[in-house]
Amino acid sequence: MSLPTHVELIEVGARDGLQNESIILPVATRVELIKRLARSGLKKIEAGSFVSPKWVPQMANTDHVLETLNTSGIKQQTGAHFSVLTPNLQGLQGAIQYHADEVAIFGAASEAFTQKNINCSIEQSLTQFESVITTAKQHNLPIRGYVSTVIGCPYQGYIEPQTVARVAKTLYDMGCYEISLGDTIGVGTPVKFKHMLDAVLKYIPAEKLAIHCHNTYGQALVNIYTSLEYGINKIDSAVAGLGGCPYAKGASGNVATEDVLYMLQGMDIVTGVDLKAVIDTGNWICETLGRENQSKVGVALS
Ligand code: HMG
Ligand code: MG
Repeated sequence: MSLPTHVELIEVGARDGLQNESIILPVATRVELIKRLARSGLKKIEAGSFVSPKWVPQMANTDHVLETLNTSGIKQQTGAHFSVLTPNLQGLQGAIQYHADEVAIFGAASEAFTQKNINCSIEQSLTQFESVITTAKQHNLPIRGYVSTVIGCPYQGYIEPQTVARVAKTLYDMGCYEISLGDTIGVGTPVKFKHMLDAVLKYIPAEKLAIHCHNTYGQALVNIYTSLEYGINKIDSAVAGLGGCPYAKGASGNVATEDVLYMLQGMDIVTGVDLKAVIDTGNWICETLGRENQSKVGVALS
């Protein structure tokens, strides 16, 4: 199998990264983080979530984050484009009103996690997403679909690849332009990833898939490499390895953008992103949050 020559990184640090931090950052700091990420050459950046502020207080004021970004000229300067999570029509209304460039719905392959995360069953979530997708399309908003817990669930354990494939196919058939497969608690290993990808690739082509690896067990890079071998060339990552899901017990940070970039550079795979600029941003946000940098590359090269 030949590896892709280009990879697109989807930077989730300002959303997945910050949603799990104990410190709630002010809008100005969230905007500054996103601007720095955009200036480093990252073109697809998650800017926040239109979710209940009671459920995820860290993502409150995503409307102000978008408003500030949209009037700052950063999109024109960098060509970056900002997406937000929208679990339901209420969230989508916010995304439309504040001119998000893209929205993402987030389902899961585990019943228990879906209940904990968005307070409904998988079937109910899919029905709800259908109306989000229909309305988003009427507004010409591209919709990305997440499937979480593609390998394991903190409440339910092992997840069957067939279940992942079924949820992913449903979201794809409904009109998501891309499906991001989330190893939410980072329990995957290459063989498990292969089994999961073999099941999903029966229904969705590799060019429509992304992977989203949390690095809880240090397996993210090897699972990403496995996915590259399958022709997948969209990778979600978070600066400084920030992240986690408040409703997935034990989930630690995402794979660090710096670590993914270093690996890809070592394989001559083009991303268009300036590693040094991401490292500087990683150090800055860790200092701001008062936490350790989770990027091995960020630490080694600082
Ligand atoms: P619910 O309580 O069932 O919702 O929550 P509801 O419709 O009954 O409404 C209850 C209250 O929430 C009402 O307010 C609504 O207005 C409000 P109240 O009358 O009590 O004041 N509400 C909202 N507020 C703002 N924005 C909205 C919204 N919807 C309702 N969109 C809900 C259902 C989905 C809202 C809730 O469960 C929720 O917000 N969950 C968010 C969970 C979340 O953000 N998790 C993290 C992201 S997923 C993730 O990290 C995984 C991923 O990274 C991939 C991976 O790693 O695998 C993507
Ligand atoms: Mg995540």
